[in-house]
Amino acid sequence: MTVLLIIIGCIFLGFVVSLSAFNKVTEVYHQKIKDDQETELEAHIYEEASNTSGFLNAGLGLAFIALLFMVYQMLKGSPYEGHLFEWLNIIVRWAHITFGIAWIGASFYFVFLENSLNRKKDLRDELAGNLWAVHGGGFYYLEKYKLAPKTIPKELHWFKYEAYFTWLSGFCLLWVVYYFNAKGNLIDPNVADLTPATAVTIGILGMLAGWLCYDLLCKSPIVDNGPLFFVVFFLVLTGFSWYFAQVFSARAAYIHVGAVIGTLMVGNVFFGIIPAQKEMVKAATEGRPLDPSLGKNAGRRSMHNNYFTLPIIFIMISNHFPSTFGHEYNWAVLALISLGSAAFKHYLNLSERGEYAAWVIPATVVLVLAATYTTAPVVLNQKCEDKVTFTEIYSIIDTRCKSCHSAVPTDDFYTAPPNGIVYDTPGDITKLTDKIMQRVVITKTMPQNNKTGMLEEERIRIKCWIEQGATTSDE
Ligand code: HEC
Repeated sequence: MTVLLIIIGCIFLGFVVSLSAFNKVTEVYHQKIKDDQETELEAHIYEEASNTSGFLNAGLGLAFIALLFMVYQMLKGSPYEGHLFEWLNIIVRWAHITFGIAWIGASFYFVFLENSLNRKKDLRDELAGNLWAVHGGGFYYLEKYKLAPKTIPKELHWFKYEAYFTWLSGFCLLWVVYYFNAKGNLIDPNVADLTPATAVTIGILGMLAGWLCYDLLCKSPIVDNGPLFFVVFFLVLTGFSWYFAQVFSARAAYIHVGAVIGTLMVGNVFFGIIPAQKEMVKAATEGRPLDPSLGKNAGRRSMHNNYFTLPIIFIMISNHFPSTFGHEYNWAVLALISLGSAAFKHYLNLSERGEYAAWVIPATVVLVLAATYTTAPVVLNQKCEDKVTFTEIYSIIDTRCKSCHSAVPTDDFYTAPPNGIVYDTPGDITKLTDKIMQRVVITKTMPQNNKTGMLEEERIRIKCWIEQGATTSDE
């Protein structure tokens, strides 16, 4: 095994070295295009180099996956398995957020441009608008063409890899967090007792089904009627949320709605926007007249993506807020918040166009307040007449929590205490009683998926103990 690991490691390094060499060639060429003195030979070299670099990139990816797989095989079952997953989680999440920021940043920027262009004053005939901006200590002047410039410039910037890599890293993150540990994170036997294979299949098919429904809607006549499209699509998406809440653990249900939205967004780029742009460039290069519907459709999909951004960002951070995903009607809470955040984006878009829709902000506030109100804890009426002793609480925590929350967990998956929370000493328990109240009594999101079979009476005893002052004395 070690020998194999070394061999794969060397192949991996080999790819890295050759790739840098090819990148050097590409860089030299790039300078040439800028200077505009390219010869036929150089063009040929460049094409060869970029083909080879594509091939090397793919090889690099495969070698990397093989390397990871070998490392996983080596560490499987050892105390380092959890550590490996933690680092995979860190790196993939980091990449996902970085690509996501690049993508959404560009999306916000171009929608802002579109909204803020000067479309009236002193424009040449071929222009749709222009815009002056100052940023980072420099002045910028941008022009948008009605269709295409007379000649397509050699160096034309495209925005697509941000989107592709955001989706790919997100998909990897789903595997690292939910699919490899389906029993722990994806499946909650109290919701639906699925096998890992079934649950993972549902997750992946869900993304595919989401795209098919959305794409069908975009190709139907409904798409021309903005408000109607919005209502129908919103209902479809809420249907997906409801369904995921019936099959997955609460947290996984939320993330899968995010995965569906992310898939629609990248699908829009891959199947809608980029092919339309390629066709526009091709037509312009060949001197054919441009089909304006191409630009219009691509623009519409790009606008849809813009409205998806705030809900999807909420879903990503919802992970930290069990009062949202842990609610009994978590899918309805998600619907409210998505509606509110998409409405807020609408307000921003309108205001960039100089239109002030006074109704949007109050509507958003009402929706978010409704979500806050709906998720307010239901106070359990059961009172404890007697004094709850710490001995009793300590024993409950010992049986229901310590298999994971201990310096040396005995759980089959968590080999290190999750979030660093341990309940080894009385002080560990009394330190964070507000969190215990939130997770065990109010949202009931701990023990995770109720893996240790905590009883309702035990939750009530914990509630009473905290209400009685959470002391460690038995008096
Ligand atoms: C099967 C393993 C497991 C068991 C059993 C378990 N937990 Fe957890 N706990 C986790 C995991 C994983 C996380 C981190 C993810 C999360 O916050 O949901 C966590 C997080 C928490 C947090 C949040 C910490 C933070 O930083 O916000 C609290 C509080 C908590 N658990 C309390 C408990 C209590 C109390 C019990 C027993 C009644 C318990 N847990 C039982 C796995 C478990």
